[in-house]
Amino acid sequence: MSLINSINRERLPKHVAIIMDGNGRWAMQKGKPRIFGHQSGTNAVRTTIEAAAEIGIEYLTLYAFSTENWKRPKMEVEALMALLITSINDELDNLVKNKIKLNIIGDTGQLPISVQKKISAALNATKSCSKMTLTIALSYSGRWEILEAVKKLIKNNPLLDIETLTEAKFSKYLSTHNLPDPELLIRTSGEYRLSNFLLWQLAYAELYFTKALWPDFSKEEFFGAIIDFQGRERRFGKTSEQLG
Ligand code: FPP
Repeated sequence: MSLINSINRERLPKHVAIIMDGNGRWAMQKGKPRIFGHQSGTNAVRTTIEAAAEIGIEYLTLYAFSTENWKRPKMEVEALMALLITSINDELDNLVKNKIKLNIIGDTGQLPISVQKKISAALNATKSCSKMTLTIALSYSGRWEILEAVKKLIKNNPLLDIETLTEAKFSKYLSTHNLPDPELLIRTSGEYRLSNFLLWQLAYAELYFTKALWPDFSKEEFFGAIIDFQGRERRFGKTSEQLG
């Protein structure tokens, strides 16, 4: 029996974020080049989007390329960029058909022009989709984002009275201003780190780590993470008794 039957649809996280990790190790275990792991990782991306849509997750955010990933060998970076273009080409019709809106966060100006153009077209093609928002973090890092937000805030409000600044007002300057904070963060490959991902937004997220390498991440793995989340008590600093 699939784990999907054990999910309580009334208590779904609205927003799930995922650090997709382990493509390189998965490929190495098979004696293949790292890019083979990334290629296989795109299948897990498709499977995960399907699984999230199947149970009605409203927001899914995937960490596909960090600011730090630019330091990888040139060949691997180029292969990843090519893979992004292929994935958009292959999946765009599916996104539209399933009413999935694409959203990109990160320093996209750093991406090759060909990738930027592909992304613009895909954003445009999915802009009226409303079943799920799929955010891909590209050339993204949490510290970069927070610093950008501070710069924008000061630039737009040179006479700001700092006493009036609140978390809610500051959040409006983050690239995730149109998304709720993730309630659940999943990281694959048995690493226990945030790796500069959504540092502000994950403040109260439940963290779920699995040993599965990203290309092996399946629907059942995803559903298992949701069930684990549903078994947790989220206190937001309060006591169990206060939660009633
Ligand atoms: C982490 O594995 C994975 C990445 C840095 C890239 C993720 C990209 C994809 C799954 C493909 C394209 C994405 C989309 C959204 C279509 P790693 O290389 O860090 O693995 P390792 O830790 O084993 O070396």
